Amino acid sequence: MDIFHIEGPVKLKGSVTINGSKNASLPIMAASILAGGCSTLKSTPNLSDISVFSKLLICLGCKVRKDSRGNISIDSSVIDNTIGEYDIVRKMRASICILGPLLARCGKAQVSMPGGCAIGDRPVDIHLRGLRELGAKIYLKNGYIVAEVRRRLTGKNIFLGGPFGSTVLGTANILMAATLAKGKTIIESAACEPEISDLANCLNNMGAKISGIGSPRLTVKGVKNLNPIKYNIIPDRIEAGTFMVAAAITKSQLHLENCRVDHMMAVVDKLRSIGVTVEAAGTGCIVRRKGPIKSTDIITQPYPGFPTDLQAQFMALLALAKGNSIIVEKIFPDRFMHVAELGRMAADLRKEGRAVIVAGVKKLIAAPVMASDLRASAALVLAALAAEGKTIVNRVYHIDRGYEKIEKRLNPLGAKIQRKKV
Ligand code: EPZ
Repeated sequence: MDIFHIEGPVKLKGSVTINGSKNASLPIMAASILAGGCSTLKSTPNLSDISVFSKLLICLGCKVRKDSRGNISIDSSVIDNTIGEYDIVRKMRASICILGPLLARCGKAQVSMPGGCAIGDRPVDIHLRGLRELGAKIYLKNGYIVAEVRRRLTGKNIFLGGPFGSTVLGTANILMAATLAKGKTIIESAACEPEISDLANCLNNMGAKISGIGSPRLTVKGVKNLNPIKYNIIPDRIEAGTFMVAAAITKSQLHLENCRVDHMMAVVDKLRSIGVTVEAAGTGCIVRRKGPIKSTDIITQPYPGFPTDLQAQFMALLALAKGNSIIVEKIFPDRFMHVAELGRMAADLRKEGRAVIVAGVKKLIAAPVMASDLRASAALVLAALAAEGKTIVNRVYHIDRGYEKIEKRLNPLGAKIQRKKV
């Protein structure tokens, strides 16, 4: 198992290129199931989640090849297995988004119930409700979701809202299934995340007929079949936001290349409100902090609101703000595994239900800490860059799921991160 030794505090300087989006790559990899033939995805990130998803597609009968430049080719001419095995699905919840494409292409699918994870329960009831609306028969058997449709899925008006807003992967599942359904489907309360828009654009490139892209109402006119494509994945807005916080927490200036600032308006607005400047530059932006960090309030919301996937990273940043901040997590109410670990680094945090009161402190102190989930782990690395002393971050595999060798991206900028095997 790998751990990080991180020396702090450091100053960062220079330019970093943002990778393709993990959360756009995964559903778009699933979409390749819809079209028998060889699709090529460009700018996919080199992450363990992508490798796990590739293994899943290979288990279904696809041939998957990945090169060192972020290109993945997926030949889905033959799908000779429609079961998403528990052993793979338990490692990565996003596997659930093979359900819709398998149903649409093969008329059946069995996918293990994903189960919970460090950020809380991860129900899929809205996914199943949407697929039933499209005519699928769905039941649970030995921890597996079994789905089948006798003939072809049938288009329907479907409401995908839930207690926490819409569902990103639920929208992906229903959208992909609807592209090959008979007739028209309207998805009301669809997720508007840029990753869903990227999926919809990719599907239209494959021959689907989707309109309303980027809005909470997607309209899909079913077609008989889709064609394989070559498609370029959008940049990862959560990775970009993480690097923006790296610049802010170390009182540095960084140039982010290949960064879609237009996908991050809530994040940029929040950074500017706490004294961080973000200016457009080249294919991205320059992020700089000179003065103190001002306190603020953050409420996570579905896009275009403040993304839950940057909540932990901003908590690390606001731990050093002047004054008190409040962070309310409205998407995953239990997404606070990082609170105790940041507290070990002298952050002054008090959890009250789905809110955390962040009382700014003058400095963070290095300590051994435990990574728990992808974004909480990134928050610990960011805190360690600013903390005094050597922080040891355990269970680094959580970070590798969503950040490609983060130490190889941060060290050239001035960080002092050593990856060690234990
Ligand atoms: C996607 O997860 C992302 N993952 C998550 O990023 C992200 O945090 C999340 O969307 C919210 O933006 C990928 O895209 C691979 P949801 P997803 O369904 O689709 C509830 C990361 O760090 N819900 O939009 O699984 C659910 O419990 C990951 O990269 C139901 O109630 O999230 C949650 O409270 C972590 N019933 C809320 O909706 C359902 O059927 C949003 O979940 C589905 C979801």
